[in-house]
Amino acid sequence: MEYIDFHSHVLPGIDDGSKDPQMSAQMLKTLYSQGVRHSVLSSHFYGRRHSPEEYLKIRQEAFDRLMTVYEPDRMPILHLGAEVALSQHMMKWELSGMKLDGTNIIMLELPGRYEDWIDDIMYEFSVTGYKIMIAHLDRVIDSYPKQKWMKLLDKNFIYQINNDSLSSMKIRKTIEKLAKEGADFVLGSDAHNITDRSPNFDEATTRLKKGGLSDEFADSIERNQGKILRLW
Ligand SMILES: [Fe+2]
Repeated sequence: MEYIDFHSHVLPGIDDGSKDPQMSAQMLKTLYSQGVRHSVLSSHFYGRRHSPEEYLKIRQEAFDRLMTVYEPDRMPILHLGAEVALSQHMMKWELSGMKLDGTNIIMLELPGRYEDWIDDIMYEFSVTGYKIMIAHLDRVIDSYPKQKWMKLLDKNFIYQINNDSLSSMKIRKTIEKLAKEGADFVLGSDAHNITDRSPNFDEATTRLKKGGLSDEFADSIERNQGKILRLW
């Protein structure tokens, strides 16, 4: 199976991810060797730091720098995206440029801790017409009270899971239960560098190949990758 990495900070010099094009190249070669054939470049967007226009300009410049070291035979096909930090002010932003390449999907990063305003913004944003992908749902499950994260779920959302969270029995059990109920999942490395947050598709693919994850979860990954691949 071809894998898509839906979440990465491979673009050089734009956020807390890759430092320079050489590191980006190493990350992409590693992802390719781990079976990833499409990489989404989802650098952080923080509305308090940049306007959407500024971000898109900086992102394009970083992409152009990455292209100087790109080797199509040894690296995944690249797709621009963004990890948009949820904000109380986001309804004022023009976010169409943040959509995942060729789709109507916007990836949202929820705050590290639950806060009361989150429910209202999530609802307001969910009716704007964008398809919402929640970045690393595993982190939300880990850090929010259960009754709070459960209320945030919506059958129209896609949930991105960070590969490293699959080593947690609690996360595996929770996402397998959600997959059984029909939830849509995709995987991401959330790779930032080549040391402590490096490309990590080997663990996820080994678990999937060896049947270490439920059929419903594996089917969900395949189904959702397939849907997006048809758009590419
Ligand atoms: Fe991230």
